Amino acid sequence: MKIDVNGQVREVDVPADMPLLWVLRDVLGMTGTKYGCGIAQCGACTVHVDGEAVRSCATGVSEVQGKKVTTIEGLGASGLHPVQRAWIEADVVQCGWCQPGQIMAAAALLKTKPKPSDGDIDEALSGNICRCGTYQRIRAAVHRASDLTAAGERRAEAGAERSEGLVSEMSAAAGAKS
Ligand code: FES
Ligand code: FES
Repeated sequence: MKIDVNGQVREVDVPADMPLLWVLRDVLGMTGTKYGCGIAQCGACTVHVDGEAVRSCATGVSEVQGKKVTTIEGLGASGLHPVQRAWIEADVVQCGWCQPGQIMAAAALLKTKPKPSDGDIDEALSGNICRCGTYQRIRAAVHRASDLTAAGERRAEAGAERSEGLVSEMSAAAGAKS
């Protein structure tokens, strides 16, 4: 069967009910997504399916056919994602095992709630367990990622306005010459 992972269509010869996590790690060799409990209880295996955070250990590979799977390897495909940058700035990681899942859950949250409250963060990430107890730093990093995302959007808007301004100046100059 064919599945779309991080924008690439991959052909995998596996049973339809094989958990996506197994396919990612053991078949495709993408070990960024972690195996914690295997029973949808810890969040270590969180990936995005069509932009939503899902537990890949409890998702059969056939369920993602025709959908877009994004893993931690593909999150910052064009440079570090704001959540990854915030994680580095806040030095969140301790042993690291839960962190790809935490980051994927945080990125999914920020898509639906660009300015989350502490309560929103706690609720959205409540299924992502960190045995090292990095929860305070995770919360701070999600707020920082929210700021970084907003700043990036403002820069993009300013860039677009500058380009539009240049285009109209050039058109006006061309009109004046003709
Ligand atoms: S490994 Fe999937 S939720 Fe724990
Ligand atoms: S950083 Fe160790 S389990 Fe979360």
